[in-house]
Amino acid sequence: MIRKEEEKWWKELVVYQVYPRSFKDSSGNGIGDLKGITEKLDYIKSLGVNAVWLNPVYESPCDDMGYDISDYRNILRDLGTMDDFKILLNEAHKRNILIIMDLVVNHTSDEHEWFSEACKSRNNPYHDYYFFKDARNGIPNNWVSFFSGSAWDYNEPTDEYYLHIFSKKQPDLNWENEKVRREVYDIMKFWFEMGIDGFRMDVINLISKKPGLPDRDEDEDLAESYSFGPKFHDYMKEMNREVLSKYKCVTVGECPGTTVEQALDTVGYDRNELHMIFHFDAMPLDSGPNGEHFYPGKVDYQKFKQVFTKWHKALYGKGWNSIYLMNHDQPRAVSRFGNDGKYREETAKMLATFQLSMCGTPYIYQGEEIGMTNCHFEPEEFRDIQMINYYAEMTAKGYSKEELLPGLLYKGRDNSRTPMQWDRTKNGGFSNADNTWIKVNPNYEKINVDESENDPDSILNYFRKMIKARKNNKTLVYGDYDIIEPDNEKIYAYKRFTDNDELIVILNLTDGEVTFNSGYNLKSKAEIIGNYSGTKFNKKNEIQLRPYEAKIIRL
Ligand code: GLC
Repeated sequence: MIRKEEEKWWKELVVYQVYPRSFKDSSGNGIGDLKGITEKLDYIKSLGVNAVWLNPVYESPCDDMGYDISDYRNILRDLGTMDDFKILLNEAHKRNILIIMDLVVNHTSDEHEWFSEACKSRNNPYHDYYFFKDARNGIPNNWVSFFSGSAWDYNEPTDEYYLHIFSKKQPDLNWENEKVRREVYDIMKFWFEMGIDGFRMDVINLISKKPGLPDRDEDEDLAESYSFGPKFHDYMKEMNREVLSKYKCVTVGECPGTTVEQALDTVGYDRNELHMIFHFDAMPLDSGPNGEHFYPGKVDYQKFKQVFTKWHKALYGKGWNSIYLMNHDQPRAVSRFGNDGKYREETAKMLATFQLSMCGTPYIYQGEEIGMTNCHFEPEEFRDIQMINYYAEMTAKGYSKEELLPGLLYKGRDNSRTPMQWDRTKNGGFSNADNTWIKVNPNYEKINVDESENDPDSILNYFRKMIKARKNNKTLVYGDYDIIEPDNEKIYAYKRFTDNDELIVILNLTDGEVTFNSGYNLKSKAEIIGNYSGTKFNKKNEIQLRPYEAKIIRL
């Protein structure tokens, strides 16, 4: 039985992430826009999802593609107008699709008027909205930016350095200043009053900085050294009290470098902070031996299994989780977690089975539902500031293009930002412009929505079936979880169960045949879903899994 108090509407969401610049261009300028998203709402609805998370759509110089906001109450002109936004919101609601906005308040753009003011003089009323330090003693500390180089830049008018954990055009806001917090709460209310349904909060665990901004331990993970300052939970509780508790809304905090304990302190049912967070534990499983991010590694599936098991055990019954395999900051899931060549279809369906059968709200990223893959870029085709800065930094240190490209092409963020592939016409049907803002993956003739619609066995139709299976089997949403054969390197199998229902999920993680011989007699049991037709049994009545086979069976 599922306990009544466990049931919550936001736990039953399946969220579809839209990267507006790359979804659908209705105006012909080579950049996706809000009208384009509205045009495609019926498609989004057809997936069976019930919420859309929109990456930032606010006014921005787009140094970091909208994560550098210069006006929180206006829409980026390239994407449309406020009226276009209201229409999108209204049309989404008509279809029972919620709209979750991105809240980027660890930093603003350096072109935000607060920062322009703040830079003018040490006495400016906005000066204390940011972190400035006297330049006379040199660079204030050893912090580095996520986007290469020092996290400090010089501001001449005041003879100070200012802090930017991301690009130099993304100065960090000083949350210690109550006025900053009030401004943020007002921005949130502005959007809630307009009718939006929730926020995904960008790097929210970085907002409270360590007092005195001490040097970091250079061996420590970057995110860990900046995250969960001492006031973080105070701020979250205040935000909840002042804003979130007043609206029917859903919240998810992006929290790099989070331990399960820190997560529980944030999403615990008794905490009154956030509904769920995005943790990053499954992301560095293919990093280099010294933690190098841009590294053409291989995912360690044993660790993958351990990560998801650990998070379930830690949170179950106490707080809620989210499940994602990719987003706009990560490479394409099918290229990373499986085989995007010969077994692209099988892999993508296997990953969908995993993602939609775990405890936690699933987030599907645009194009994941048709198995879009990583893309080849030449360095001059990079659009992402992280890739561009890293490439410049490393070539300056003497590394060659040949040495750098494999890691960048495997892990780079531009992989997931190539335009949505709708059909086999020009630019994959994304835009009729001659130049799109970022390269279109040339494989669009083969991989696109149109082809997928026409094939009942497509990845797209499998996603739809799997989303339906999740909706029809609440055990997949609310049930407990137990891993089966934790040490099996080839198979990830687990049970999802309640007092009166038990489902078994079996995933072949390899491109070979493997036997699932865990002692269960599954011959006469009902299959809920599978990515191959039928089930192959051997003479001992054990399941013979085919490459990347996935299935869910009711015990
Ligand atoms: C988050 C965003 C990423 C952005 C960064 C800085 O990680 O997802 O795209 O670059 O924050 O805002």
